[in-house]
Amino acid sequence: MTNLSTTYMGLALRNPIIAGSSGLTNTVKHLKLLEDAGVGAVVLKSLFEEQINLEISNIVTSNEQNNSYPEAEDYIRHYTKNNSIQTYLDFIKEAKAAVSIPVIASINCISASDWSNFALDIEAAGADAIELNIYKLPLDRNISADMYDKKYIDILRLVRQKIKIPIAVKIGTNFSNLVRIVDQLYANGANSVVMFNRFYNPDINLETLEFTSSEVLSSPTDLARVLRWTGIVKGKLPYIEIAASTGIHNGNAAIKQILAGAQVVQLCSTLYRNGPDVIGEIKTTIEQFMHKWNFKTLDDFRGRMSYANIESPAVYERAQFIKYFSNRDTL
Ligand SMILES: Cc1cc2nc3c(=O)[nH]c(=O)nc-3n(C[C@H](O)[C@H](O)[C@H](O)COP(=O)(O)O)c2cc1C
Repeated sequence: MTNLSTTYMGLALRNPIIAGSSGLTNTVKHLKLLEDAGVGAVVLKSLFEEQINLEISNIVTSNEQNNSYPEAEDYIRHYTKNNSIQTYLDFIKEAKAAVSIPVIASINCISASDWSNFALDIEAAGADAIELNIYKLPLDRNISADMYDKKYIDILRLVRQKIKIPIAVKIGTNFSNLVRIVDQLYANGANSVVMFNRFYNPDINLETLEFTSSEVLSSPTDLARVLRWTGIVKGKLPYIEIAASTGIHNGNAAIKQILAGAQVVQLCSTLYRNGPDVIGEIKTTIEQFMHKWNFKTLDDFRGRMSYANIESPAVYERAQFIKYFSNRDTL
């Protein structure tokens, strides 16, 4: 008998498949559907600091236009922020009452500010863990890569000081030294790192010369880049748990990530494209693979093909197509 159960940040999961944060984890109805379809845990849609700030500035501006008392601004700021936060806290409570799988809350932080207090409220609302979705686009030539990294650590440290529940930090790929930043996140209290977020990317419409959004959903070919970093980070830092995210559209992709060292996998685009039934298919594929190789538990093969556990780690290091293209010099 194969056993898909696992732990993730100390939480017991019936399987390693997590519904990642998105519009599909934004209502209790969706969470129940995902639980019924078989996921091991859910990450709630993030509450965005930016969104709250935008809401506040819209209200403040319209207040100014209506010639209200300028001193009302502080009240509006305070009220709007608390209101958004309260709605999110209520959602956590409802989610916890509705499903029995672990519920991971998510906040998108751009500043350290008072997110740490908010994290305390999230803990009190009953979230089993929190995912800090942090993104700093390095645009300032006067700020060194180290200083950008420090912003992530500062946010994490403030939150870690306040709460006891596990913390995952969800990151993108814009780092000079990914292994180092992940190690620092671990040293400062992260229980897991989610690699990687997928960001909104701009595209240009050549008919109108306007900006549009490039493809929002990932494709299966996006897996390769994440697979490389799962293997390298797990090989270099065996103590950190990795939640692999991006490009996991089917069971084979999930198996590859676990072989490279992922503790769990997060799904998003495939849920949008294929609906919740894909969860059952992924579980079946993992079970068939385990049966074929006579693996009884996920630990029997997790990390077996990480950077540390293969004979030729060069497969992870090779970054150029030198060998591949040396035999293909004709059109
Ligand atoms: C429509 C959409 C909404 C998303 N919303 C969030 C969010 O609120 N918070 C977050 O951390 N990630 C969010 N993500 C990113 C996903 O959780 C995931 O990390 C990313 O899409 C890569 O995984 P995938 O290849 O399975 O889609 C969103 C992605 C999509 C496509």
